[in-house]
This record gives sequence, structure tokens and C-alpha cells, in this order.
Amino acid sequence: MYNPADAKNMLALGKMLLAEKNNAATSAQQQIEELKKVINYHDWRYYVLAEPVVSDLEYDTLFKQLKKLEESYPQYKTPDSPTQRVAFTLTKEFPAVQHLSPMLSLDNSYNAEDLATFDTQIKKLTSLDSIDYTLEPKFDGTGISLVYENDQLVRAATRGDGSSGEEITNNARVLRSIPLSAAFSKFGIYKIEIRGEVLISKTFFESMNQLRREAGLKEFANARNTAAGAMRMQDNREIAQRGLEAVMYHIGYAVNTQNNNLLARKIESHQQSIQMLAELGFKTPLHDLFVTHSLDELVKKLAKWEAQRETYPYEVDGMVIKVNRLDLQEICGATAHHPRWAIAYKFKAKETTTTLLDIDFQVGRTGAITPVAKLQPVQLAGVTVSSASLHNEDYIVEKDIRLGDTVVVERSGDVIPQIVRPLPETRTGKEIPIIFPKNCPVCDTALEKTETEAVWRCPNKQCPAQVVEGIIHFVSKNAMDIEGLGRNQVKLFYQENFIQNIPDIFQLPYHEILQLKGYKEKSVQNLQKGIENAKDRSADRLLYALGIRFVGRGNAKILMQYVEDVEDLKNWTPEQLQELPEIGPTVAQSVCDYFADEANLHLLHQLKAFGVNTQSKQNSQELLGDSLSGKTFLFTGTLQKFSRNEAETFVEQHGGKILSSVSKNLNYLVVGENAGSKLAKAEKIGTVTVLSETDFWAMIEG
Ligand code: IVH
Repeated sequence: MYNPADAKNMLALGKMLLAEKNNAATSAQQQIEELKKVINYHDWRYYVLAEPVVSDLEYDTLFKQLKKLEESYPQYKTPDSPTQRVAFTLTKEFPAVQHLSPMLSLDNSYNAEDLATFDTQIKKLTSLDSIDYTLEPKFDGTGISLVYENDQLVRAATRGDGSSGEEITNNARVLRSIPLSAAFSKFGIYKIEIRGEVLISKTFFESMNQLRREAGLKEFANARNTAAGAMRMQDNREIAQRGLEAVMYHIGYAVNTQNNNLLARKIESHQQSIQMLAELGFKTPLHDLFVTHSLDELVKKLAKWEAQRETYPYEVDGMVIKVNRLDLQEICGATAHHPRWAIAYKFKAKETTTTLLDIDFQVGRTGAITPVAKLQPVQLAGVTVSSASLHNEDYIVEKDIRLGDTVVVERSGDVIPQIVRPLPETRTGKEIPIIFPKNCPVCDTALEKTETEAVWRCPNKQCPAQVVEGIIHFVSKNAMDIEGLGRNQVKLFYQENFIQNIPDIFQLPYHEILQLKGYKEKSVQNLQKGIENAKDRSADRLLYALGIRFVGRGNAKILMQYVEDVEDLKNWTPEQLQELPEIGPTVAQSVCDYFADEANLHLLHQLKAFGVNTQSKQNSQELLGDSLSGKTFLFTGTLQKFSRNEAETFVEQHGGKILSSVSKNLNYLVVGENAGSKLAKAEKIGTVTVLSETDFWAMIEG
């Protein structure tokens, strides 16, 4: 059904539908059915294969077209339409549902010896002396069970206690990697229960946390808990923001219309069941599946996976070894806890113990006080860990963490190491309870805490720590991207009294900087150039750089589409701002509070006086012309002449568009040094013009 050979047809069909719009010759019902097919195809390309073939704009146009047709002809709207994924209704509670077959756990193994024991046991149970095993990743997410009946998704459930789980169908429907309908009937299957894991990719998880950091929100601790929490959210519109994906790896139950068990008859092996699921449009471990009858080979492969686990796009905590033949699986059977035909091989824990030496109370840009644990350095999953986040006071109190404690440290989701718990049984009596400061450790102002938040904050806006962090944020990569002015330089210049606030950046005493250790004529010139360049940054970067709470890059971009000058935001009420797409009440209030403060308006006036651009893109675009209008670009590798950020801003200011990945919609791929897979992909597509950095600037000048 999702044969790649269909790609051409689907693309052609999509283009035709886009062009024809309301062609009277095709009936509305036909158009709806075709649009559904095309959109499902593109969802599969994007969410299952991660290889989109149309631009977001083309996809949105098709989607809107389908929505419009369905509104005009509601009689042709079906529950499996891609427009029906988000229900816009709150799920108040998740009723308990009985699984069709128990959702068992897995037995664990840790070394080659354990696996040899497993192999001996299987051979004994099956009376065979050679067994084909499959090997696949053990995904570290949250379990999900899907039931399809008559080719339609009818139910989704959490694992629960293994025999019954919570029904989360409305939430599962939001995940575009879960087909709303799948042609199981092609395989003679009428009703089927399939198992898998809901995950968030490492890159998505990191970018989500970065956005949360920028917006002053608490970061998520790890991808697994975030995924599990998201699947039980009441408002399924929010789930769509969490980047959830479902990978399916097991069939628990399958019957035909006569209710005859089909497993081990129609589908003979685990490998075949994964192939079938992949063919029907599910995301599966098909490409990571390895089959062998040799234990030696299995062990070698496991070691390879373990060594490369960090490069895998999802969190994996081990591998799963399964007997391939389903009839043999049936013979082996299961205990109440786990099937006898499968075993998990667990990777070495990303968890260890060490001593909590001290606590550093750090003051962030928004005044939030974060306790950071200073640890006796320890090796953990390949890196030396010497500090860990303790989150907030409640966390310390809840876990009763004390200075001098032996603590369990975990690196999960490859983010900052966490202290999981102390080991009270190892206490000597010399451990000291942690006392959270009442005053700011930097400026001594009394700390404050609102009822709704767990964090203590320093309310003093002039607190040196907040001021310095604010300046560091202003110059940072995603904000004004000032080359030559990073965290260390800002700290140094603050100490030296060269910078006390943001406008000071634009009136640095360069002759005095020249006297500092490490500075030479050339480096000062470069710094000066970096600061001059920053004056032309887009206004949405400036708005983000100002560090308004809850205003991340995305919100800043949206806001700047509606005003000509950053300062114009002072004329908007919270109610008006909330009318804008994706702007909620918290962001709206925060923006209004910021612009109601005279000191902030004064800051903007000073920046303007120094020549910093405050005008929105439409205006700066007019100034620079539209020479790149309609053209799409992507930069890869290290550029020499300008930073990637600068080059991208340049393209945008001239009316061009930056794409995030190589696709057929890409016109130009500009390659710097050490370009990687993007170049290979562009060459494969064949229609992308590859430019060196020199070619690019020559083309611009030309
Ligand atoms: S097979 C009846 N395959 O790990 C056996 N499980 O710790 C069904 N898991 O409960 C499980 N990746 O939630 C299987 N490739 C994989 C898996 C996997 C992750 C989860 C699953 C299971 C848990 C046991």
C-alpha cells in the first residue's frame, strides 16, 4: 500500500489536486478520497520515513483543501480522515480496558553467559539444535497497544498492569506515525492487537528543552517520562507539540472474521510480522532488525550496538532478542511476567553512585535560583560527571538529599545529569541537611516564590547575576549572534566595568580592551566588526534577545509579523495579542508587562540610537530588495566568510527562504568545509544546485 513506487503517483495526484481545486468533473467524494490518500502518503513520508517530498506549504494547502471539502460535504467525512486526528475535546478520564492478550514484560540479560543460558533453554523447549533469533533495539519509551478492527484503528491503550491498561485512543490518534486505517484485511486479518513504544527523538527532545529554556519554562527531565506524561494529557492538541512517534514491534493477537487465530499461520516469523507492519505504514524497527542463528554473531552485534548507542536517534536501553519463528514462540510459551521466547539484553546503566560534596546556588537570567550539586567526579556512560541538577527546593526536600550523602546519579536522555536519590543506608551521621538560601547568593536581596511555582527567584532586576545572564542571552547564537562576544568575554567585560547593561555593548572602550591579556589589534577589530554586524539583525532576533519571559524565537517571529517596529508592541493589549496564532495568555501578559516598563522602552530607544535595527522584516526586506525571492537555501558545513546565522539572515533579508533539510524543494545547497550527509543527499536528488561558499557570494554579487 505504501510502496515507494507509489511515490510518483502520489506526487502527481497531489499536484493535480492542487491545480484542479474544484474541478467539477471529479466528484467531491472522489476528491476527498484522493486527498486523504495523498495526505496519508505524505504523513508516512514525513513521520515514518522522515523523508518528506513536498514543502510544508504544499502539504498545508492539500490539508486545507480537504478540510474545506469536508466542511461543504460532511456526509463524506470519515473518522479515518487526516483532518480528524485532533478531536478538540477534552478527555476527562481514561477508562480501564482489558488487553486482548497480556502485555508482558521482558526477562533481562547482561552478558554473553546469560544469553548462552537463554539459548540452551530455548533449544531444550523446542527440541531443536539451531534457532533463528532476531535482534532489535529495546526502545526506552512508554508502551502502547493498538487494536485495529476491519482495518480501522478502534482503540489505543497504555500498558497499565499488563492485563488492563488505560484507553488513550483520542491521544494516540494525534500521532501521525499511527495510521488511522491500515489494510490488514489484505493479510486476511479482521482484528489485530499490536504493541509498540511511544518515543520522542533525541533531537526533538533537545530542541523542545531549548525552547523551554529560552521561554523561562522548566525543562523536561527525560524523553521517556515526557512521552508517558504526554500520552495521558487531557487536551490532545497539546500532544501534537511534543514530537511523539510510535514504533511498533510486536503482534499480540490476530484473528480473521471467523475469529480464528492467525498468528503463526498467515505470518510465520517475527521478521515477517515486522515486514507486514512496515508495509502497512507503521514505523517499525525493520531496518534495525538482524537475524542470525549464531550466538557469537549475536554477541558481536550487541557489542557494536552498545558502543554506538549514543548515535542512535532514540533512547535505547538495550536490545531485544526474540525467537524468529512464531510457531516456536508458541511452543516456548510465557511465564506470568515475560515470554520465554524473548529476552532483553540491557546496556550498562547510565547510572552510578558518587558523593555530594557541595551545592552551588546559581542565579539565572530570570532570577530563578537553581541548586547545582557539586559531585566527586565520576565516570558515567563515557563522560566524567562532576555536577548535576537538583532542580529546586521541593526536589531536595522530597528526596531528603544531604551534603556528604552518597547519591545515585543518572544521565538520562543525554541531558544534564540528575541526582536520582540519596542512599541513606550509607550515612555516617556526618551528613548535613541542605538549607535553601533565603537571600540571593549574589546580591543578597530576599528571595521570593509564588504559589504556583516551585522555584525561588531574586526579584532584583539589577542583580549582577541577572544582568550578566541577560547580556549573555542578548549576544548568544540564537539572539543577536555577536561574534567575538560570548559568555566568558561578557563576564570579563562586566568585571572590567566595560559593560554594565545591554546598550554598553555598542559603546565598548576598544582602546582599553586592547590592553587586556589575550587581545590584539586583529581580535579587537573582529569584535568591533561582530558588533557592527549585529546591528542589522532581524527585529525578531532583537525581540527574542531582549529576554522577555516566555518569548522564544518562535513567538518572537510571530509577533514581529504583526508590527512594523519592536516598540509598537507597547500599543497592544493582552487580549489583542492573544488573538494572534500560537500566542497564549502567559506570553501575552509577559509581553505587555515588559513594554509597560519605562526602563525597557528607554533601553529600546538607546539601541535605536546606536543604529540597531528594530524594524520588522517586511521593512528591512524592502530596503534590501527581493533578489532571492522564491529561492530556497540550505547551508551545511563550516562557512569561512560569515557565520551560518549571518548567511541565513542575509538570505531571509533578501526574500529567500531557509529550509531545514534537503528535499526536492531545495534550490541551493551551500557547502562549507566538512559537509556531511546533506551533500550526498542533494547529489542523489539531482535537482539541487550545489554551491561553494565562494560561488554563493559570487552569485549574490552577480
Ligand atoms: S517485545 C511479549 N520489543 O520493553 C513481548 N519490547 O522491559 C513484548 N520494549 O514491556 C515485548 N522495545 O514495553 C519488545 N523491541 C522491543 C521493545 C520492547 C522496548 C519494552 C516493552 C516491554 C519492556 C520490557
